[in-house]
This record gives sequence, structure tokens and C-alpha cells, in this order.
Amino acid sequence: MTASSKITIRDFQSMKDDGEKITMISAYTFPIAKIIDKIGIDSILVGDSLGMTILGYENTLEVTIEDAIRHSQAVSRGVNRALIIGDMPFLSYGIKDKETVRNAGRLIQEGKCEAVKLEGGRERIEEIKEIKAIGIPVLGHIGLTPTYVNEFGGFKVQGKSVDAEKRLIEDAKMLEDAGAFAIVIESVPWKLGKIISQSISIPTIGIGAGQFCDGQVLVIDDIIGLTTSIKPKFVKQYADVTEVISKAVKDYKTEVKELRYPSDQYRYDD
Ligand code: KIV
Repeated sequence: MTASSKITIRDFQSMKDDGEKITMISAYTFPIAKIIDKIGIDSILVGDSLGMTILGYENTLEVTIEDAIRHSQAVSRGVNRALIIGDMPFLSYGIKDKETVRNAGRLIQEGKCEAVKLEGGRERIEEIKEIKAIGIPVLGHIGLTPTYVNEFGGFKVQGKSVDAEKRLIEDAKMLEDAGAFAIVIESVPWKLGKIISQSISIPTIGIGAGQFCDGQVLVIDDIIGLTTSIKPKFVKQYADVTEVISKAVKDYKTEVKELRYPSDQYRYDD
């Protein structure tokens, strides 16, 4: 891809066809989106992980469509090139097809996203077809789907038994047939990530699904070391921003207490 052209779902497919890995990061705010876009990451997912990273919830279940729209708007203001994907939160789909389509539409119309993601395999087929029918590209998500945390009994690796593996391969094919433009595969053994990636012609985006997926996605807070809660095995931390912030805040506190800030340099004279 050239550094400046806007990324579309067609580019995702070309990258898979050409063997070029797709890069995606989950992010939620204007300044971070601006940095990510400038670096040339292909796509920003405004993930419902914002419930845990930004809002401090225990899981993603309390995130609302209003939260998702608000953060998508912030991200879109900082992005020129990356494909922006809005994550549909729990209860914004899965109840009535019409409501699902309206919520997907709101992420496009109000949130300024260019595609939406929703979790689930065979259960989502009709909804995906309905969303796609009004021109909204859909990213699927299978494996460890966080809104199913209570059903799974925690954030656990999926697809470990022969039956579970077979079911996930079938789900991926069904999502492809329903018209998804790509599929996120989360927390499955790498061999299964490879089999799924080779079994379908649309791109797979892995998160804890090994190196043979067509692309990778990670949460920005995990990459930069801002996450304080669970740290899954697949997370590679590239920086320690918690350390940087702690030092800055500590230095500020000390200087105020010791009357060193604000010094003459930081005051108005007239
Ligand atoms: O919510 C999210 O950020 C996600 C990604 C981790 C795939 O669903």
C-alpha cells in the first residue's frame, strides 16, 4: 500500500492475495488514533475493549452503542488513511435484525466508521447479510469472543478439542459465505489459526492465533504498557508508558510540594 492512500476493504483482500500482512490496532481516542494513523497502520478498530481499557469495567459487557459511537467519532477525527472499524457492543446486535442494522448504521453515520465488527459465527449469519445488504462492510470475530465471557467461564483459549476446532472452521466458512470481508480470530492454537486462514479466501486477522493469520491486531494499551489487569500470553509490550507517566506525575508532585514549580519561567509577568 502507498503511505498516503485511504485503506479500504478491497486493500485488505489485495494484501491477503499478495501475501502482505495486514496491521490493525484497537484504539479509542483522538491523539492515539492520530499517532497510529501517521505511522501507517492499515486499520484502527474502535474495540469494545474500551470498556476495560478506558472505562475501567471488568469486561466488555457494559459498553453501550453510545460509548462506541462517541469513541469512533474521536478516532475518526484523528485518521486520514487507516480503515476505521466500529465494534458493535453487547446488546447492540443479537436481539432483532432491524435493531442490529440500525446500530451498525449509526456507527457509520454518526461514528464515521467505514465498517463494523460483531462477535459470533453461525449465530450472526442473518444479521451480517442484513447489514451488508445496506452497504456496510462487516468484520467477523470468532474464537475467544469476549462478550461470551460468562458462557466460556472466563477468558480462555478456544478451539482446543477436535469438535471445537471443526466448529470454528465451519463458522469461518459460514461468515465468508455470508459476506464478511475479513474475520478476527482470537485466542486459538496457532495450528487452527493457520488452518482457518488457508481454508477461506477472505483475510484473517489474528489476536493470539499465531503467525499464519493474514494480519494481526493488538490493543494499543497492551502494546504501550498501559494495561494493568490481565495480560494474555500473546501480548507483546513494546513500551512502558505507565513508567513514563508515573515519573512525570511524581516529578510534578515533588516540584509543587518543594515550591520548584512554577518557577519564573512558567509565570506571566504582566
Ligand atoms: O474489542 C477489541 O479491541 C477487540 C479486538 C481485541 C479484536 O475485539
